[in-house]
This record gives sequence, structure tokens and C-alpha cells, in this order.
Amino acid sequence: MEFPPIRDRTILVTGGAGFIGSHLVDALVGANDVRVLDDLSGGTPRHVHEDATLLEGDVRNRDTLEDATRGVDLIFHEAAVVDVTETVERPLETNGVNLEAGLALLECARREDARVVLASSAAVYGHPVELPVTETTVTEPASPYGVQKLALDEYARLYERLYDLPAVTLRYFNVYGPRQRGPYSGVISTFLEQARAGEALTVEGDGEQTRDFVHVEDVVRANLLAATTDHVGQAFNVATGDRLSILELAETVREATDVEVPIVHRPPRQGDVRHSGADVSKARRKLGFEASVGLETGIRRLVEEGPGGRRS
Ligand code: NAD
Ligand code: UD1
Repeated sequence: MEFPPIRDRTILVTGGAGFIGSHLVDALVGANDVRVLDDLSGGTPRHVHEDATLLEGDVRNRDTLEDATRGVDLIFHEAAVVDVTETVERPLETNGVNLEAGLALLECARREDARVVLASSAAVYGHPVELPVTETTVTEPASPYGVQKLALDEYARLYERLYDLPAVTLRYFNVYGPRQRGPYSGVISTFLEQARAGEALTVEGDGEQTRDFVHVEDVVRANLLAATTDHVGQAFNVATGDRLSILELAETVREATDVEVPIVHRPPRQGDVRHSGADVSKARRKLGFEASVGLETGIRRLVEEGPGGRRS
């Protein structure tokens, strides 16, 4: 896969030992000096490319943040508490990671004159009032996670207006791909794990709920485009523009794995978003971004390459 070129920069990737961050690091090493700041609460050093420097630390620690950002030109901020339920149970503590540390990072970027690309989320839209959602659709988050993401998303755009900080926020929809792991890893990796183990695929609710699934390789490309765009101070949906129901997804996984596992229904998730789908025309128009990995291809590759993927 061809990525937009970024060279000779000093770059910090927070959360670079995690799922999305580690793929981003892979695309940046070689041509750049890449640092990763991660407390390994969700990520693993095994996923950090050997040519990157891993700084093990907490983004909430101001001294750590200052050290990690000293001399950087570009920051990709991926570190977060990604478990939505944890933010519901501990809104104050998780706010420290998802909002306050992000704000402190914007301050460091201001001091260093660095560009920032932030991981925001479709969760800022809550239960969308229209479909597909555009970047101007009403934002009404349904969890502290969504509020925290939205507040940082707004701060980033405000920093551009107030201080000329070149910041871009990317609202990822449902990301999937190699290295997605752990208990909060998303329905595609859960279904694939179940199919590999010969277990039933667990569909929560009636399975008619829909999502816009975007491959991590496309998310990486959106980040690299955001790192070079003139359209700073903006938020962009990062998705494919297509929606699929969870039942259709279960069928796709069964076909791709070629295993005869049943589909079982479980009670619906409390507060689950019924439908989520993005209008991606703004990212297409302004970033030149278009998702290139179709869901069937993405799932087939996961089946062939395994959950760890192949390092290119
Ligand atoms: P992930 O859990 O794999 O990565 C997050 C990383 O942040 C982990 O490596 C974790 O160890 C690190 N981290 C957590 N708290 C930290 C702290 N206090 N200090 C330092 N590091 C810390 O999750 P991901 O799916 O790769 O998510 C990356 C970003 O994308 C997150 O900001 C997430 O909210 C956002 N996002 C993800 C999705 C998705 O579908 N995966 C969708 C929307 C938004
Ligand atoms: C996902 C992200 C979240 C992000 C949001 C933005 C993950 C883990 N979470 O939440 O960070 O902010 O998108 O759009 O990627 N399901 C089943 N069976 C299972 C697992 C899930 O039926 O075994 C269903 C769920 O009930 C839900 C759908 O699949 O309806 C998607 O669930 P999940 O992959 O956890 O993602 P979201 O909740 O959409």
C-alpha cells in the first residue's frame, strides 16, 4: 500500500503500542525519527516497530509529556481509554486521560510549534439524528467517552483559531484489522476469534444494527493526509461511507473462514447505537481520502494473515 510521503520529521505517536497507533508507526519509521509514548495499559511492546523509540509512560504525567514532545514537528495522538463502559463507570478518572492529557498535549504542541493529528470518534454523534452523519450533524454523545472525545475535538479546532496551531481531528468510525486485541476489541475480531475456535458467533440483539467498518490501513492513510493538509482546524469523518448489519457481518465472517459455526443471539447491549454510518465527502474533497480496502477483502486478509497481520 502506497502512503503519502512524510520524511525527515521528528514524530511522536501517543498510544503507538496499540492497535491503530502501531500501524501508524510502521508507516512512519525509516523515513522519520519516531517516538512512541505508551503506558502499555492496552498496547504491547511487541507491536512497536524496532526502529521506533518506545517511551513507556503515562500521558497524564506532565513531565513525561514534555520530555516526549521536546523537539517534535508532528504529533499523532492515539492514546486513550477506549473502553466506553469504563468511562461510564469512572467518568472523572477517564477524563484525565481522554481529555486533560490531550489538552496538555496541545499545549506542548503549541510550545514546540508542532502539528497535531488527533484520534476522535464517531461516538461524538451519540445516537445519530440523521444518516449518514456529516461533520455538521448535531453532536450529542451518549457516554463520557463521547463527551471526552468531543471536548478534545473542539479544543483542537479552537487551538487552531486562537493560536494558529495546525491541528486536525479525525472521527474514526468502526476500525478493524490486524493487532486488534483484548476484551474491547470490536465485533470483527470477536467474530473471527469465535470462528477460529469453532464457537458460535454471538450476535447481540436482533443483529439488524448497522456500522461503517473501516480498515486500519485506510485509517493510517487518513492520518498521513491529515498530517500534510492545508485544511487545518477541521474535523473529518474517517469511514467508508457504507453500512453493514451485524448479521450480514456474521455471514461474511462465516463465508471467509469457511467454518460451519452457528449464529446465536444474545441480549442487546444497553445503550447500543442502532445505526452508525458516515458521509465521507468532506474527507474526500479536502483530504483526498477515500477508503480503499473493502470489507470482504479486509476480512479475507485477516483470515489469511492471522490476527497479528504481516509487517510490511
Ligand atoms: P488501543 O487500546 O489499541 O490503543 C490505545 C493505546 O493507548 C494503547 O496502546 C494503550 O496502552 C495506550 N494508553 C491508554 N492510556 C494511556 C495513558 N494514560 N498513557 C499512555 N498511553 C495510554 O485502541 P485503538 O483502537 O488503537 O484506538 C486508538 C485511538 O482511536 C483511541 O484514541 C480511540 O479512542 C480511537 N478510536 C478507535 C476506534 C476503533 O474502532 N478502534 C474508533 C474510534 C476512535
Ligand atoms: C466502536 C468502537 C468505539 C468507537 C465507536 C465509533 C470498538 C471496540 N469500539 O464501538 O471505540 O467510539 O465504534 O463508532 O471498536 N456486537 C455483537 N456481538 C459481539 C460484539 C459486538 O453483536 O460479540 C455488536 C454490538 O452490540 C454493536 C456492534 O456489534 O451493535 C459493534 O460493536 P463494537 O465492535 O463493540 O463497536 P461499537 O460499539 O460500535
